[in-house]
This record gives sequence, structure tokens and C-alpha cells, in this order.
Amino acid sequence: MTLKRLFIQHLRNLGAVDITPSAQVNLIYGENGSGKTSILEAINVLGVGRSFRSHKHKPLINHHQTSFTVFGKVNAEGVEVPVGVNRQANGEAVFKANGMLVSSAAMLASYLPLQVINSDTFLLLEGSPKIRRQFMDWLVFHVEPGFFQVWKDAQRCLKHRNSLLRRDRMDRFELATWDKELAQYSHQIHVFRQECMRQFCETFYLLVQEFIAIEGVSLTYYCGWDEEKDYAAILADSVERDKRQGFTQVGSHRADLRITINGYPAAEVLSRGQQKLLVCALKIAQGYLFSKITGRRCIYLIDDLPAELDEHHRSLLVRWLDAMETQTFVTGVEKQALLDAWQELPATEIKLFHVEQGNVQAIV
Ligand SMILES: Nc1ncnc2c1ncn2[C@@H]1O[C@H](COP(=O)(O)OP(=O)(O)O)[C@@H](O)[C@H]1O
Ligand SMILES: [Mg+2]
Repeated sequence: MTLKRLFIQHLRNLGAVDITPSAQVNLIYGENGSGKTSILEAINVLGVGRSFRSHKHKPLINHHQTSFTVFGKVNAEGVEVPVGVNRQANGEAVFKANGMLVSSAAMLASYLPLQVINSDTFLLLEGSPKIRRQFMDWLVFHVEPGFFQVWKDAQRCLKHRNSLLRRDRMDRFELATWDKELAQYSHQIHVFRQECMRQFCETFYLLVQEFIAIEGVSLTYYCGWDEEKDYAAILADSVERDKRQGFTQVGSHRADLRITINGYPAAEVLSRGQQKLLVCALKIAQGYLFSKITGRRCIYLIDDLPAELDEHHRSLLVRWLDAMETQTFVTGVEKQALLDAWQELPATEIKLFHVEQGNVQAIV
């Protein structure tokens, strides 16, 4: 997948942006506050319906406007697919793909599979399990067509079960009905995740050795309950405890990907720099496996590359991106620092974009 054309209007400080990106590398430079991250944010909106900086939509709308629009032409295996998002200050949203209205932002994701690397990405190691679950589920969502529906069904059952648990007079029969359904969906989610993570670990271990010299890295998928036991039985046994807490305490909604170094949590033993490299390796492994399984390519959005990685590791990352032949959008304050990262790859088609006070200019 590549983004062939990108049009942005009234998103943050961006007035009217209309660019034709390179199918390979796009370097976006400009002073702090010029609008670089906002461009990546706009691409993210096109891919998943929202920003990676905030779940709220209002902050994205230019202060002097009542809506923003992002429109793109995606090259999907030789077929051009127009995709667009419009969001209004009153909360209304329109998502369009291939000339048709689509009901949810999730439907956009299959047209534009994105990987984001920014300062928040580094929370993957030290942040809550939710962040790692989202990381896992990105891959499962993109490679297992049945996953999203099952995930939504499980969420629905969980919501009903939790609201029943909070009632003064809980109907045990009703609870048993939800438990049965929830157990079934949770098991399906587990099977999807387990298989995906098995393949992911294989890819990651190969890659991490080349990318960083850290011994003893281990990834372990945790399904959210004691795998030795039957989840339906666990649910039945935990009713009283769950009732006291007011929510379901074990299940696929508690799954995690545990990342350790010789048995210790990676976030506790690695230096900041090593953590960043490990996270980059995780992100690259995911994009690589995505391509291997689906035959498609995802797009990488990398915010402020020079600020995040030192020169040596920047060029390592760049070589990996190049080997995967993915389209990449990278930002940085200094033009030269960005160009230097790609200097060993003269065959790559690089496009430069200069951002100044919300205006974007292609540099030829
Ligand atoms: N809703 C908005 N309307 C207008 N300007 C905004 C809005 N939200 C943020 N900005 C401004 O947009 C500018 C660009 O931000 P950003 O893309 O983060 O810059 P960069 O990544 O180049 O440092 C900032 O100066 C910020 O104050
Ligand atoms: Mg920025």
C-alpha cells in the first residue's frame, strides 16, 4: 500500500495541503511548531479515523474552522482507492472509501495499514498492558479477517456481564448465558492471538539479533487467564469476586505481551536508548510479518527521527525500512540530519517537503 496523493484541509495549523508523496521515502522538515507532526497525524486520521496524539477530535480542527478534511489516493496493489475523512466540531464524522460511505473508522484501516513510531511508542515497554494489547491486535486485525467481529462480540458480552455484576439483584441465569457466550468468544480471540504471536516471536527473535546487541530478550504472550484452566470455569468461580469489584477481572481483555530480558521486565533493565531500539525492532518485525502473511505493505510514520535515535541506529532502522520496501513518512527539524540517514541508499526515491507555518512545499 502506498499513499499517492494527500490532501489536508484545516487540520490543526495546516491550511490547505496537497502533496504527491514518493512511494518510498518522504522527508518532512521544518521548525518546531511548523506543522510536521500534524501531517503524520492527518495520515493517521485517514488510516484509523483518529489522531495518535489524542482520542478527541475537536483539538484537530483548526481553531478558526468548524471541520477538517483529509483525503488521499491509496495505491492498493495497483488499484487506486480514494479514501477520505471529514470531522465536524459538532461530532459528526464522514468516512469514505472507494466512493462509498463506510460506517466506522475501523473499516478504513484495511485500506491504509499504518505503523507509527513517535515518542509515545516507547510506552510500549513501560506502559499499561492495554498498549501492548493494542500492539498485538494490530497484527491480528490485519491478518485474521474474522478477528474484528469476534473481538467486538466479546466486548459486547463483557459490557453486559459487567453491568449485571453491578446490579443489586443479579439474575444468575442471565449471567450464565453471558458467561457462556463470553467464554466462547474469548477462546476464539485467544486462538487468533496465540497463532499470530507465535509467528511474531519467530520473526522478532531473528530481527532483534541483527538490530540490537541485547542478549536474553524474550516475548511471552499471556492470554488473560490461567491457560491451564478452562476459562468458562474460571468465570463461574469468580462471580463473587467480580461482583465485589464490579467488573470481570480475568479474560482476553486482560491479555498482555510480556517483554523480558533474562527474566526481568525490559522496561526495568534496559537503558532509554536500548528501549527505543527494542521498540523499533518490534515495530519493524510487525511490518515485516504483515507483508509476509498478506503480501501487502504497511506505511511507516516516524515522528522526529533524529530526536529519537542516534546516528548509528537511525541508519540501521533506515536499512530495515529500505529492505521492506515500505512507504515511509519521516519528520525532523533539520533537513540534513534526515538526508544523512538515507545517504547510504542512493537508489531510494526520496521526496523532501518543507513545512512553514502550516504550509507544505515540495522541494525539487
Ligand atoms: N486546532 C488547532 N488550530 C490551530 N493551530 C493548532 C491547533 N492545534 C495545534 N495547533 C498549532 O499547530 C502547530 C503545529 O503543531 P505540530 O504539527 O505539532 O508542529 P511540529 O511537529 O512541526 O513541531 C503548533 O504551533 C500548534 O500550536
Ligand atoms: Mg512535532
